[in-house]
Amino acid sequence: MSNQTLHTTKQTTDSLLTVRGLSTYYRSDDADAPVRAVDGVDFEIKRGETYGLVGESGCGKSTLGLSLIRALPPQGEIVDGHIDFKGRDIAQLPKSAIKDIQWADISMIYQGALNAFNPVKTIGEQIAEALRIHDVVPEDERDNRVATLLEQVNLQPDLASQYPHELSGGMKQRAAIAMAVSCDPDLLIADEPTTALDVIVQAEVLNMLQDLQDELDFGMIVISHNLASIMKLADRIGVMYGGRIVESAPSEVLYESPSHPYTDRLLRSLIDPRRPPEQVETIPGNPPNLRDPPTGCRFAERCDLATDDCTESHPPLEQLAPNHQTACYHHEEVGK
Ligand SMILES: Nc1ncnc2c1ncn2[C@@H]1O[C@H](COP(=O)(O)OP(=O)(O)OP(=O)(O)O)[C@@H](O)[C@H]1O
Ligand SMILES: [Mg+2]
Repeated sequence: MSNQTLHTTKQTTDSLLTVRGLSTYYRSDDADAPVRAVDGVDFEIKRGETYGLVGESGCGKSTLGLSLIRALPPQGEIVDGHIDFKGRDIAQLPKSAIKDIQWADISMIYQGALNAFNPVKTIGEQIAEALRIHDVVPEDERDNRVATLLEQVNLQPDLASQYPHELSGGMKQRAAIAMAVSCDPDLLIADEPTTALDVIVQAEVLNMLQDLQDELDFGMIVISHNLASIMKLADRIGVMYGGRIVESAPSEVLYESPSHPYTDRLLRSLIDPRRPPEQVETIPGNPPNLRDPPTGCRFAERCDLATDDCTESHPPLEQLAPNHQTACYHHEEVGK
């Protein structure tokens, strides 16, 4: 990927969402050892900005997204931190107030949304249902609104009368996106929106998300385990490892000069179609067990640069430039 293909950072100023010290745990059989899926996360999103969240499987990306929209499964709980959104702390919202922010303020395309449609209802009925629940438009205008939403995601309006099994994967993902924007949210969280799709359709869906965002001006968090797939779309990227954000920077900065060894390894593991697969570098070892994470840097045991310091205490997120933070004692040596 050349630098020219990277997305140019938009000049956005006001903050939409500020997350401080957020920790979300899942209860497990052992009450003393919950899964620390999100463990002290800080980040910020500006209005109209696209924030990419990347990291290997199991590092807490979906849990972070589900925390922001307060849609955690019953065993999950926000145990600490703040989620400031439009003057309210979402982390502290009582259960009764949660539905007021879901969809209309923050909406989410859930991981696996492609398979989440009800098979016995038409696509139009399912989008209309979302409009009804959230009382967005009067009943007699719902069909028109469904048609407009389908057009906005480049689907034919008559597709409203079709059932999910009649649609391709790409079409279903577009319909899921139409549903997610139906209530005109300020923040859209898209969790692995392209993972189950082939490469051409992936690009179409990402371009469509970008166009939709330009038109509707929502902030967006795009979650992916694949750095390459969100590099073009995201203004900034947060790299998550072991329940924490270990580096955050504008996409082009992250690509050109990563300052966390994990980001560096992720970039080096990107698949280049011109190279034979055996030349792609993998990252040896596995992410830490989040029931019993190490006290020091969670990446230390897989890191070539690690020293005793790294295993003794976790490096704090350090500000390297106004928009660039990293949590590594050895950031100056990364990529040398
Ligand atoms: N419902 C649950 N109950 C208990 N543990 C869970 C639950 N959901 C996730 N976890 C654990 O929380 C950690 C973070 O999971 P999460 O799904 O947030 O990761 P992820 O980064 O989204 O992974 P992926 O890329 O595979 O989607 C993992 O250790 C996972 O096993
Ligand atoms: Mg996930």
